[in-house]
Amino acid sequence: MSLQSRRVASQPGFLLVINDIMMYPSVLAVALALGAPSVHALLRFSCSQLVVERLDPLVFPGLKQSPHVHQVVGGNMFNTTMDHAAHDISTESTCTTCTFPEDFSNYWTAVLYFRARNGSVHRVPQRANIGFDGARSGGMTVYYTPSYTGAKATAFQPGFRMVVGNPMIRTAAENAKYRQLTFTCLQDLSTRTGETADMPKTACPAGIMSNVRFPTCWNGKDLDSPDHASHVAYPSSGTFESGGPCPSTHPVKIPQLFFEIIWDTRQFNDKSLWPTDGSQPFVWSYGDYTGYGTHGDYVFGWKGDSLQRAMDANCDACTGTLKTQSITTGNNCQQSQKVAETIDGWLPQLPGGIVITGPQPGTGSGTSTSTSTDSGSTGGSCSAAKYAQCGGKGFTGCATCASGSTCKVSNEYYSQCL
Ligand SMILES: *[C@@H]1O[C@H](CO)[C@@H](O)[C@H](O)[C@H]1NC(C)=O
Ligand SMILES: *[C@@H]1O[C@H](CO)[C@@H](O)[C@H](O)[C@H]1NC(C)=O
Repeated sequence: MSLQSRRVASQPGFLLVINDIMMYPSVLAVALALGAPSVHALLRFSCSQLVVERLDPLVFPGLKQSPHVHQVVGGNMFNTTMDHAAHDISTESTCTTCTFPEDFSNYWTAVLYFRARNGSVHRVPQRANIGFDGARSGGMTVYYTPSYTGAKATAFQPGFRMVVGNPMIRTAAENAKYRQLTFTCLQDLSTRTGETADMPKTACPAGIMSNVRFPTCWNGKDLDSPDHASHVAYPSSGTFESGGPCPSTHPVKIPQLFFEIIWDTRQFNDKSLWPTDGSQPFVWSYGDYTGYGTHGDYVFGWKGDSLQRAMDANCDACTGTLKTQSITTGNNCQQSQKVAETIDGWLPQLPGGIVITGPQPGTGSGTSTSTSTDSGSTGGSCSAAKYAQCGGKGFTGCATCASGSTCKVSNEYYSQCL
């Protein structure tokens, strides 16, 4: 299919078939609406689930376990520590759950739970995206878009990692800083309109899709930064989609990394199971009903120059440029939890004892838990203003730790009594 016919065909929700991989070019339609040239490709592929566990080698390196549950896809070197100096991710992994066997990167997000009227929680399963039926546990869809304008994208370098979003956020104002972390209330699997920054307030017939778009400008020097975010930035004006320029502090254009994850809420859509006050019942593993704290993590692990070649080739399925493997092969790449823990079935509380903070949409209370105390798993009791995670136990913070432990600040939003 030519680029011209793709341009003509680009309408939200319009299904396009390229090289037997179905894709939704709604982002093209966005670019068109913004008046940008539309001649660009977007590398779109499936990654099956690798593991679901409380591990976070980026924000909590070495900590077994990290505070909240994540769903993880990608290379099987995923581990408590993925220090670049000590590990070559692209050679230490022996398999990947993704479509491209040269991609040993890891991609992860929090997971969604349903909270019943009696307070018990149950993990919401994931489902496969359009064109990726059979992906183990739904997995996630990953995109790398080089540019919407034909500008060159510099692929991520070995050792590169980043986080977008902040699990402490519970308001639209704080969330606005991240621009492009959204949810789609799926009427069917092809719904690609009506993205919202907070969680849908009504039952979504086909599930809820998380859309996680990372910043697209890099400072050109640092593979990481203390908050795992300040080495990247958004365009200084306009957007990535409109071809906005990168700020002088972050002059290097990197591909737009974008995740889609579909939460299969169908078994929980019966309103008789929902809170009687009309609020929505889904809560994130980090203790958030609002969705404003949504976040995604990335550790680069492509082999050699494979990602750069794909970006330069400006290809969609990239079958001629990259080696590919079947979804079944990707499904065979699995890990078990480093610390076996029950995360499924009806649970009395969120794994890790995560405390739910912030308002429930629909209640109109708008209040947030500002101070609380909790007993850390590695430290003693501690208290702090606002949200933080204390020794792996909920969003309670640890400005003050019990004697025998000290507060270790990991980054702008996490601290622990250790
Ligand atoms: C994870 O790290 C531990 C400790 O360094 C090591 O023993 C183990 O083999 C690693 N697992 C994987 C899958 O790399
Ligand atoms: C809580 O509610 C759910 C959904 O109705 C039910 O399946 C579960 O058994 C209940 N748990 C307890 C402890 O009552």
